Order: sequence, then structure tokens, then C-alpha cells
Amino acid sequence: MAYITGSVKGTQDTLPAESFKIQYIESAMRETAENFGYREMRTPVFEHTELFQRGVGETTDVVQKEMYTFEDKGGRSVTLRPEGTAGAVRAFLEHGLFNEALPEKIYYLTSCYRYEKPQAGRLREFHQFGIECFGAGTPAADAEVISLAHEIFNYLGIKNLSLEINSIGCPECRKEYHRALKEYFEGYKEELCQTCNSRLERNPMRILDCKSPVCSKIAEGAPVILDYLCEDCRAHFEGVKKLLDAMEIEYSVNSRIVRGLDYYTRTVFEFVSSEIGAQGTVCGGGRYDGLIEEMGGSPLPACGFALGLERLLLLMEKQQSEFPEPKKCDLYIASMGENALCRAAALAKELRSEGLCVQFDTVGRSLKAQMKYADKIGALYTVALGDDEIESGNITLKNMNSKSRHEMSLSDFADNFQSIIIKDAMSDFESLGLDDIDLQSILGGAE
Ligand code: HAM
Repeated sequence: MAYITGSVKGTQDTLPAESFKIQYIESAMRETAENFGYREMRTPVFEHTELFQRGVGETTDVVQKEMYTFEDKGGRSVTLRPEGTAGAVRAFLEHGLFNEALPEKIYYLTSCYRYEKPQAGRLREFHQFGIECFGAGTPAADAEVISLAHEIFNYLGIKNLSLEINSIGCPECRKEYHRALKEYFEGYKEELCQTCNSRLERNPMRILDCKSPVCSKIAEGAPVILDYLCEDCRAHFEGVKKLLDAMEIEYSVNSRIVRGLDYYTRTVFEFVSSEIGAQGTVCGGGRYDGLIEEMGGSPLPACGFALGLERLLLLMEKQQSEFPEPKKCDLYIASMGENALCRAAALAKELRSEGLCVQFDTVGRSLKAQMKYADKIGALYTVALGDDEIESGNITLKNMNSKSRHEMSLSDFADNFQSIIIKDAMSDFESLGLDDIDLQSILGGAE
């Protein structure tokens, strides 16, 4: 069959059989962020183009080459968000959240859009979990932000991720550094790509982040920012390291990390994996003390990070991480005839309101085909309802795993079913040698 069209290059679908993995990852992130006092913020998928030009920076690859920018029908230039920080800062300012108790700690789970060359771990539509901490300027804020990402990786059981940190200083100490960089890169003017040539005057640090092989080779020999930090920035960086040591979070200092976005000041960091190919940076972030002022607010320090969900999932699959089993169908009610179908629908409604997953036939299949379907979807229990059962008021519940059968009356089926679930679970756990406490914590909702 010819379909109208396939998906757009660089985008991907999450199919029902896989979605429980991403839901688990997202719930781990939400739970961890909320334990650190973060609350969710949702912002629009598109913003005025100017927001990203000013926020992310005119000389960045993201703004120069990768934005999905278009004119809407009202003639406004809008852009699909390439990242979450600029929109979060806009909303923070627009809604006067700076008047609330500071620091304001927010998290988001969003789709982002960058017109990059797709490859494993690099998409044009991807998803980020990110956090932003507005109004905290001490090294403790940087360390806590880093520890939140670290905690998420622990929660998910991720191994072999290395944390690399650096300081890229403040505008003051960067003046001297920019001079040194300019002097160095001037010597390679002929070899640098066209974009980097234009960056030479305006923002030579961006050359350090260029993806062209020639420019990155040249960048390897460039002066490093750590040698140019002012006293305050040096002390701040030492403070961050001390706190990471106190929390026993392992890291290495990588003076080559500059990050691809313009707003960073002082601490920058990345969690990197060597197991998922060239796009190994799973999480990146840092401090951005000038951005809120750049966007029109009063000066206020801030820091945060974003983590790519697709890269994280790639890594978890590589590491054969375990995911909790997705919710199964507790009961499939097969039915024959109109009366039985009505009874099945009513029973399903009652049991679903008690938190159980129940399904019945909505296709009009034969009894045999309904049972086949129940088996295919992995239903844990089934019952078959026909005129006979309705007349006699008795029904047979079948456990699809053990194949055991339980006769019971239809009128109090809901109560009986719940106790059978508990009984069967108890005998399963007894055979596994688990004690009562384990059982209670696992059964939780079924009682
Ligand atoms: P970023 O380093 O541009 O930072 O992106 C963060 C993460 O998003 C990356 O580490 C990666 O996992 C994921 N990512 C980026 N681009 C792609 C792509 N094309 N395909 C798949 N995944 C991708 C930021 O976006 C900053 N806003 C982070 C931040 C928040 N800094 C402070 N607060």
C-alpha cells in the first residue's frame, strides 16, 4: 500500500509498545526534580524569533544555521524553540516571578527543534528535560543543579557517564581571553571556515565550538579560559568543586568545554557517554548570570541544564537497563449477544472506577476470536459472558497464567475478583519466597 507520506526527516515516532520506557524516564525526572523543590513550567512551542536571537546568541550555530523560523499569517517572524532556557526566562520575566520567593526553581519536559544533520542521537525534533534555577548566584546553586542531573542518572541506574566541568568566566575576565583567542585564530584566518571568520571579530569563543573538522583541529591549540579567570570566577569555580567533592560526585575538569549557546557565564558542565557514538553529550548546562538582564529584567543570577531524552533512551537501551513492566490488562470480558455486551460494558465501568484495566469486545468478534485477542494483549484474567451466565447468575473467571478457574456469582463479581487477584498474587509471591512486607508494598493499590 502506498501511504500519503512518511515522517519528516529527523523526526521519530514513539510507538505504544515503547512509550512506557519514555514515561518511566519522565516520571523519574519529575519525581527527582520535585524532591529538589522544582515545579513544572510549560511554555509555547514557538516564540518570537528575536527571543532566541538575543537569548541564545546571534553568533551561535543554533541561531545562524539551525532554527526553524517562519513568518506566520500575520507577518510575524516566529521560531520553533531550539531549546528551553530562553522561553523559560521570558515567562519568568513576563509573569513577574522575580517578585516571588527566590530562587524560583522550574523544570520542563518539552520538544525542541534544530535543523541539524540527523544521525544516531541527533534529531531535528527531539525532547529535553530541563531545569532552571533563577535567583541563586552562589557555587551551591551550581553544585545542586549538577547533583540533580547526577541523581536522575542514579535513579535510572545509568553507568559510565562522565561529568566534565569547566568555568568560562564572566564578561570581565573574558575580555582578556577574547584578545588572546583573536590573536591565536588570526594566524589561521585562511583555514577557518567562513562562519568562523565572521565570528573572529564578534565572538571568537564560538570558534571553539565549530563542528567543522578543520576549525576544531585548529581550536585544539587555542589558549584556554581557565588561565584567564578573574579572582571572583576562580573562587566561584573552586567553590563548586568543593561542594561536588563534599557530595562525592566524581568529575573531571575539561578546559575545552565552552558549550554551544552564548548565554553561559562561569560554570559549564556536560555529562558524556562514550557508548552512544559521536553524539555522546547526554546532558549539558551551566550558569548564565547575564541572560535575565539581557532579556530586559534586572540583573539576576541563574543556572540550569537540559538533558536529551532520545540520547538518554539510546544509552539505557545500550546498557540494557531495566524498565518497570507496563500496565497490563487485568481482565478481559468476552461476551456473546446484546445482553451480555451491556453487562460487560457495565462491569468494565465498575472495575475501571476501582483502578483496574479492563477491556471488552468493541469489534463484534466471535467468542473464540475475543479469547484469542485477550491472549494476544496478555490479559491476566478473562471471563466469558453469554445468555447462560446471565440467566444462572454464575460466571467462571480464568487466570490466564496459571490456567486456574474460579466459579463466582456475577452479582458480586467486582469484590470477588479483587480478592482472587490478591490471593493469586500471594501464592505467586510465596512461591518466590517473598515475605508479607514485600507483598503489601507491591499490592498497594489492589486492596
Ligand atoms: P544543549 O547542550 O544545546 O543545551 O542541549 C542539551 C541537551 O539536549 C544535549 O546534551 C542533548 O542531550 C540534547 N540535544 C541537543 N540537540 C539535540 C539534537 N539535535 N538531537 C537530540 N538531542 C539533542 C541547552 O539546550 C541548554 N538550554 C541547556 C541549559 C539549560 N543550560 C542552562 N539551562
